[in-house]
Amino acid sequence: MNANSQDLNREMNAEMFVTRSLDEIRFWSRIMKEHSLFLRLGFRCDDTQLIEEANQYYRLFEQIEQRSYSFTNQTDPEQIKRFNSEVQQAATGIFAFKRKILGLILTCKLPGANNFPLLVDHTSREANYFRKRLIELNEGKLKPLADAIIKENVFFLRIMADHAKFIGHLLDPSERKLVDMARNFSNDFDTLVFQARDLDSMRPQSQTVPLLDQFLDENRVSVVSLRDFKKTARDLIEECKIKSIIHPLLADHVFREAERFLEIIDMFESHLTGGKPKHR
Ligand SMILES: [Fe+2]
Ligand SMILES: [Fe+2]
Repeated sequence: MNANSQDLNREMNAEMFVTRSLDEIRFWSRIMKEHSLFLRLGFRCDDTQLIEEANQYYRLFEQIEQRSYSFTNQTDPEQIKRFNSEVQQAATGIFAFKRKILGLILTCKLPGANNFPLLVDHTSREANYFRKRLIELNEGKLKPLADAIIKENVFFLRIMADHAKFIGHLLDPSERKLVDMARNFSNDFDTLVFQARDLDSMRPQSQTVPLLDQFLDENRVSVVSLRDFKKTARDLIEECKIKSIIHPLLADHVFREAERFLEIIDMFESHLTGGKPKHR
């Protein structure tokens, strides 16, 4: 029997819909705004059209972020539904922009630009995640808990593995110890991604409460230590204590994404076991 399907099916009421929608939009619109900035910084100064396009997305997501704070949890759900679909279109737009940039890089049309292809792909996956989350919310359908646990972990573990790789490549090569640490995190998370995919391919038989609980526990341990590493790196970069080409805002950005993943793990844990989240 796959994990108690009664317990693992979730329903969403109107208030939860508004709260969840605003939470997703507040978090991810800031992230999308920052992606626009990072992409812009990586373009060559002659790429004025791309720079302008990136600036437009920056302004668009800044407006969306500001508007999201003008709503409250008491706002009419119909109004939030319209806002969600508007934001979803913006997310689809920035997704297409990122894929266009990826195409230009991979066909060597932007020689000398400074955005890694994997970083552009990564930010497009985040835009696609945001898009899909808004569609899911508007359709009022939440995945059964056991499916959500595996899918979200497959997604976020890969995101974390990418972050470790970006940090390792953007630190100055002379920061040998930190580069080594970043490489270890990259290996650790690559392994966790494979484990998560194995669990995914064993669905639905793998979706027992003990297996999912252990899966969350093991992932949490690694995410906590990566989160702490990112926090240290962010502080060192802000204080100008290490050599790198990492923008301080990028360091903070990847730190916030790790925090987000931890919150999701804790939420799953408490739904799964009905208990309080573990200390971290
Ligand atoms: Fe991001
Ligand atoms: Fe990211």
